[in-house]
Amino acid sequence: MAGPDLMDKLVSLTKRRGFIFQSSEIYGGTGSVWDYGPLGVELKRNIKDIWWSAMVHQRDDIEGLDAAILMHPRTWEASGHVEGFTDPLVECSSCHRRFRADLAEVAGGQCPTCGTRNAFGEPRMFNLMFRTFMGPVEDAASTIYLRPETAQGEYVNFLNVQTAARQKVPFGIAQIGKAFRNEITPGNFIFRTREFEQAEMQFFVKPGTDEEWFERWKAERMAWHESLGIRKENLRFHEHTKDELAHYAKKAFDIEYQFPFGWKEFEGIHNRTDFDLRRHQEYSGKRLEYIDPGTNERFIPFVIETSMGVDRLLLVLLADSYREEQVEGEERVVLALAPRLAPIKAAVFPLVKKDGLPEIAAKLHEGLRRAALPSFYDEAGSIGRRYRRQDEAGTPWCLTVDGQTNEDGTVTVRDRDSLEQTRIPADRAADWIRERLGR
Ligand code: GAP
Repeated sequence: MAGPDLMDKLVSLTKRRGFIFQSSEIYGGTGSVWDYGPLGVELKRNIKDIWWSAMVHQRDDIEGLDAAILMHPRTWEASGHVEGFTDPLVECSSCHRRFRADLAEVAGGQCPTCGTRNAFGEPRMFNLMFRTFMGPVEDAASTIYLRPETAQGEYVNFLNVQTAARQKVPFGIAQIGKAFRNEITPGNFIFRTREFEQAEMQFFVKPGTDEEWFERWKAERMAWHESLGIRKENLRFHEHTKDELAHYAKKAFDIEYQFPFGWKEFEGIHNRTDFDLRRHQEYSGKRLEYIDPGTNERFIPFVIETSMGVDRLLLVLLADSYREEQVEGEERVVLALAPRLAPIKAAVFPLVKKDGLPEIAAKLHEGLRRAALPSFYDEAGSIGRRYRRQDEAGTPWCLTVDGQTNEDGTVTVRDRDSLEQTRIPADRAADWIRERLGR
């Protein structure tokens, strides 16, 4: 399917099925900000839970953190964001719209909005951080920023976490949270937005071991994405050239996905050296050294960072799982999400609205919910239509209560991907699903 076509289909499917809505739509929408609806919020939570489990619960050497969005403004001076987190910007002399300088150059100096030729003067640097004020006085002294990355919360808490959790280097700190960037050219749906979520992990290592840890994390993160079922041929690494490297990085690799609009980054693995801890030590005047308990050696650890955009991964999963297929002469749209990612695990249908079938189905649905398996009850329309709705929602299994259920207590399970139908005892349905989810 052609790229832009697939993006249009994803925008429309995700709205229709309640995954993603434009923010403040009734007011005409907020530029490049999106809201997650009933199915979207479940999918996003599943992504975050699986990441958290892999990064924190399944390891002894990474601790979790939930740092505040509003940090001391000196944080952003130390991190280099006040000075360096900028894009060159040009303004049209006629309509006064602003554009990123590289895009204006691509447009040959002609304003993409009003068409004026030679519209732009010298570029000015534009800081991408959102600014606001803390307290009642709106002046320079009360200026505060919405964090443009979650990472700094992990650096300023490095010693707090290390001592409280009695961790030894090498160890990591992981957190998931909102970040904000006043992007000049956001777009491509939820790919580049002004408010987004990051799942970041900072791994503190002894200088000299950083390159080895970098390679380990690079391999580990790619394997994790593959474990979500993303097709290998749509994933690749891209190494940052000298020009692309961020001010803090010695080495960086992006994990890229072949989106409908081209190969683009959705996670970065960075060797940030001791840049961040050293700068925070300098700007705060507080020592951020680690003392090795074995050797009494003092050093500022190097940081290997893995930084994933949760919204971008969600877009990857939507694009990678979207299929249009012919089934028994009819077209169906299906989101072939891995079952552990699917917002709804099972849908329960009574075949007909009589003979006590709705009551049995409602009881089965309740049982699944009580077993913490998100389930959806549907008795409206033909079975075929009910299957189609669940295919679009990515629901892996549909359970149908029919005449035979009254006789032997079994229900049919229809598999979203193979379309195979099997019978299982209704009272074993929760276990049957749990086994397939690996729980
Ligand atoms: N702490 C390092 C850092 O923030 P980054 O490459 O600027 O590095 C990391 O961002 C990830 O955050 C990106 O790979 C992307 O997935 C996500 N991200 C960054 N800007 C974004 C935006 N405007 N909208 C959505 N996701 C974004």
